[in-house]
Amino acid sequence: MSDSRRADRSLATRKALFVLLLAVIASAVAYTVVHNRKWNVPESAKQVQNPIPPSDSALLSIHSIYLDKCSSCHGNFGKGDGHDAALYDPRPTNFTLPLANATDGELFYKISEGRKPMPAYKNKLTEKQRWQLVLQVRAFASRVAQRTRPTPSNR
Ligand code: HEC
Repeated sequence: MSDSRRADRSLATRKALFVLLLAVIASAVAYTVVHNRKWNVPESAKQVQNPIPPSDSALLSIHSIYLDKCSSCHGNFGKGDGHDAALYDPRPTNFTLPLANATDGELFYKISEGRKPMPAYKNKLTEKQRWQLVLQVRAFASRVAQRTRPTPSNR
């Protein structure tokens, strides 16, 4: 093989490697964007307080709506394991894991606005229903906390 042909081939190889590298970088970036994209909630929305105090009756009245609209993804007990959950990426949130940093206003905003694949509920549910759902989401987490709290006998 002549020197010039050898040079052509190594140039072609380097071009191919470069394209491959770009493809790897592009897919890594796309993966990161889909999986780590931050759900931006406006500061003002985070500060809004839940106008509905937590109570058994508030939870009771929203439970059938939760089962109807949310449980197919988030699961009957809020574990993120509804029968459609496996279809989605990112997966529906497991509410029994502490949503430590989220304010009520933030949860309300997320329920209202949605984010693919989660639908927006601002035109499907009343404001009162969405605030009650915030209580429901919190209740899933606190029920687990109660179960793991020491009972009087083993304290
Ligand atoms: C089609 C499936 C689907 C349905 C139905 C659905 N969700 Fe979601 N939900 C998701 C997914 C997926 C996420 C995670 C989205 C993300 O992180 O980008 C999510 C996230 C959330 C969050 C945010 C949790 C956090 O990280 O702060 C809340 C709150 C929530 N859902 C409440 C609800 C409520 C209440 C309903 C019913 C009114 C509901 N969802 C219905 C799929 C769904």
